[in-house]
Amino acid sequence: MEPVWYELKHVCKQTGARYGILHTPHGDFETPIFMPVGTKANVKTLIPSEIREISDGLILGNTYHLWLQPGDNLIHEFGGIRGFMNWDGALLTDSGGFQVFSLSSIRKIKEEGVYFRHHKSGAKLFLSPEKSIEIQNNLGADIIMSFDECPPFDSSEKYMRESVERTIRWAKRGKDAHKNPDTQALFGIVQGGGNKEIRKHCLEELEKIGFPGYSIGGLSVGESKEDMYEMLEYLKTIMPTNKPRYLMGVGSPDDLIVGSMNGIDMFDCVLPTRNARHGCAFTSYGKIQIKNSKYVRLHTPLDPECNCYVCKTFSMAYLNHLIREEEILGMRLVSYHNLYFLKNLMHQIRDAIKEDRLLDFKNEFFKKFGYTKE
Ligand code: GUN
Ligand code: ZN
Repeated sequence: MEPVWYELKHVCKQTGARYGILHTPHGDFETPIFMPVGTKANVKTLIPSEIREISDGLILGNTYHLWLQPGDNLIHEFGGIRGFMNWDGALLTDSGGFQVFSLSSIRKIKEEGVYFRHHKSGAKLFLSPEKSIEIQNNLGADIIMSFDECPPFDSSEKYMRESVERTIRWAKRGKDAHKNPDTQALFGIVQGGGNKEIRKHCLEELEKIGFPGYSIGGLSVGESKEDMYEMLEYLKTIMPTNKPRYLMGVGSPDDLIVGSMNGIDMFDCVLPTRNARHGCAFTSYGKIQIKNSKYVRLHTPLDPECNCYVCKTFSMAYLNHLIREEEILGMRLVSYHNLYFLKNLMHQIRDAIKEDRLLDFKNEFFKKFGYTKE
């Protein structure tokens, strides 16, 4: 018997957004959920007890980086990523496909896999669907990803078809190579860029192979928000309702709300932590640059409406000073706050779904946060 990984609990009557429960060997999680990114077996600058405080207990790691350094066999010796970083929550790993395409400039895609050069040393490397799953089996995450190609959003129809057909064959090979289907849920990834017909074909073929969850890849890769939202609205009408839906690499506050309205259950993004290291913070009244001279003498917190440790403890003036001086503590504190902000946002989204008022919530949030459209 295959384990039950997901239960749909409620559909928002105002928007069609989904509230559900994701079951994993290391915890059950309310969805929609945001997963902080912990690429190299750390959420940058934070220790596990802090990751606990600013997440719902599910974080993301990256096959590509951990395979190259320190190696998946070494991590396996320490009990997988969870044991290695001493994280007692749940984990998801990406397959490495996307990172090969975004980090390595020299690469050759063949039927068997991708030949490429190390993004720093230049060493010759090869990653295949089987190899990616073997690495992910060693890394031991609760949820793992098929090895896919992420073609540019506006690829020619001919290339898009070739690429998606290969991604489908790779998904089947990955499923066949997967050693732990009872403890690691392997998701299929829907590609197809901006082409609805190819997206539908990809989803149908992946469903024939059969996966416990479906990811949406190839979005938020430089296309307009309108284009992304249009594709999400379309996918909402054809995705299976009894499986979790993961929108990969998406994560600004507006996209989390609109994604949820379009039936997305899981999100991840480097935005809150990357922005934080550059002194950019989310607040209830929009995004701000902490360095700005208007904060130099401010006694009030970063976000008066936020209940996080940082907002309850420090003045804006102090954060402004730390960020101006590029102090590590400044990056840590803003990372903590930004992740807490998204955790709190997802909590509010789930409450609004359960109470059939997500559209009202969206309108209120957009008005206050300062999104110009709608
Ligand atoms: N992360 C963001 N987008 C993608 C994608 O299309 N594929 C994979 N594997 N990871 C992603
Ligand atoms: Zn805060």
